[in-house]
Amino acid sequence: MIESSLDATRTAYDAIAVLYADLFRNALDEAPLDRAIIGAFADLVRPGGGQVADLGCGPGPNTAYLNSLGVPAFGIDLSPTMIELARKEFPDLRFEEGSMTALDLADGAVGGVLAWYSIIHLPPEELPAVFAEFGRVLAPGGHLLLGFFTTDDEAPHPTEPFDHKVTTAYRLSIDHVADLARGAGLVEVARMRREPGENERFLHGRLLVRRPAE
Ligand SMILES: C[S@@+](CC[C@H](N)C(=O)[O-])C[C@H]1O[C@@H](n2cnc3c(N)ncnc32)[C@H](O)[C@@H]1O
Repeated sequence: MIESSLDATRTAYDAIAVLYADLFRNALDEAPLDRAIIGAFADLVRPGGGQVADLGCGPGPNTAYLNSLGVPAFGIDLSPTMIELARKEFPDLRFEEGSMTALDLADGAVGGVLAWYSIIHLPPEELPAVFAEFGRVLAPGGHLLLGFFTTDDEAPHPTEPFDHKVTTAYRLSIDHVADLARGAGLVEVARMRREPGENERFLHGRLLVRRPAE
């Protein structure tokens, strides 16, 4: 099940990678609230040092933004075409092919994880294992920042995908994502709900959590 889902996501993003990179290259320029929470994440992870993993980095704009803020971030993505584009656009940064379902990272290897609109494509039943993987690779005291499409619906456990333009995707309630993080031993730090911008359909959720210091 998970392998066929990952294959479908990989194939879909490979096919639109060039268009995606062109469309979203400057997305943060138009989104002051997103810059604010990514900036706060950068402020929190920088003092602890260590690397930050941008999981589902796409063509790498957020990896580059974090580096511009002094955070040594690298990117991992399922799509080899996304990784190729990221390496071409940001030749000084590190980008690797991989899946957040099974990261090639040691326990406690990173001081931070950014997962910006990349958990949305996972089958909902896979999410607890993926959050356990986030918790495994985070160093004690490390932070995880998630961005995703959210909803006001009462149903906390989404089972129906929405008609995402690239491939199967789910909206997730912020409470549900917070529960998933708690289940992986992570502690909530902050949450944000942003209204849809011009030409956007859905609410946006952001959740910042951390692994407790030992
Ligand atoms: C909507 S794009 C977001 C890209 C980037 N984070 C951004 O905000 O521009 C989703 C990205 O997540 C990647 N992705 C989806 N599932 C993944 C997984 N299991 N592991 C790693 N990357 C994944 C896709 O290949 C795609 O590049």
